[in-house]
Amino acid sequence: MAHEITRMTELVPYTPEIALKAADLLAQGDLVVVPTETVYGLAADATNDRAVARIFEAKGRPSFNPLIIHVENVAMAGQWAEISPLAQKLAAAFWPGALTLVLPRRADTKLSRLVSAGLDTVAVRCPASGPAQAVLAAFGRPFAAPSANRSGTISPTRAAHAAKTLSGKVNLIIDAGPCDIGVESTIIRVDGGQVYLLRPGGLSVEAIEPVAGVPIEKPQGGEIQAPGMMESHYAPEAQLRLDASMPSPGELFLAFGPPPQNVSATLNLSSNGDLTEAAANLFNHLYELDAIGDRIAVAPVPEEGLGLAINDRLRRAAAPRP
Ligand code: TXA
Ligand code: MG
Repeated sequence: MAHEITRMTELVPYTPEIALKAADLLAQGDLVVVPTETVYGLAADATNDRAVARIFEAKGRPSFNPLIIHVENVAMAGQWAEISPLAQKLAAAFWPGALTLVLPRRADTKLSRLVSAGLDTVAVRCPASGPAQAVLAAFGRPFAAPSANRSGTISPTRAAHAAKTLSGKVNLIIDAGPCDIGVESTIIRVDGGQVYLLRPGGLSVEAIEPVAGVPIEKPQGGEIQAPGMMESHYAPEAQLRLDASMPSPGELFLAFGPPPQNVSATLNLSSNGDLTEAAANLFNHLYELDAIGDRIAVAPVPEEGLGLAINDRLRRAAAPRP
């Protein structure tokens, strides 16, 4: 059931025409490897759940880490995230560049919920590289992009690195030579007047602090927590019962695949048992069920392919609340 799709991968040098082609592919829900000044990114339309799910499938990611959305400028960022005066100041100083800001999602946003892995924040970055800027200008909206490598392999700073682990899994790899920075962006969370370091990266804390005007809070004990994990626990209001073959009276039923005879699904992650489709639907379906009931029975999802990530998130969502 967990069929990994094979695609014809084109590896081409960057030209302005290629940026237009990349934008067309993104608009169709396809995957494109885009060079940035930090590392090569595996890009998909950030407003398309299905396309974002393909990122996790192509990376073979065992869990849904939230992703960074890439924007052309501060104006584009403001269409998708709330930009506080402090965030505005940091963006003005360091964008385009290797700084990612974790900001509240706008309430009215059409951004994929999978991008944020169910959180009410979104990580936003404005890349400086010419090719990434050209793709964003042609596309006109954000793309989500983690580093363009299979999970557990090193971050790609050359097109060939990306091709090594993603060939056959993406439609297009744009080659713009080695990345200028070569380590991922620095991620900070701006929360009111406070600034927290979530991941050290290509822009130093020493450079950011004087502009922020406040000390940057680093995690206790000197150890940097895996970014995103500290608050990635998506907790619906409703109670979840997992691995349910059918709903009990009073329960909503979130199915996967055809429901048993005489049982109707309230919502179905994928009626034909497609794990990529299920991943794309997961967060939206949970939100919708949460709005209409307080007990949800969830059908079993196979522990293979994207099913690992889906089950990981379902277990977190079902875990007892602190
Ligand atoms: O330089 C970069 O940042 C590269 C290029 C392609 O832009 N991208 C990159 O993405 O490194 P990725 O997916 O490998 O790392 C994104 C990190 C993850 O560790 C995730 O946990 C964190 O950002 N993150 C994303 N959204 C978040 C959020 N809403 N809250 C906290 N952490 C978040
Ligand atoms: Mg990475």
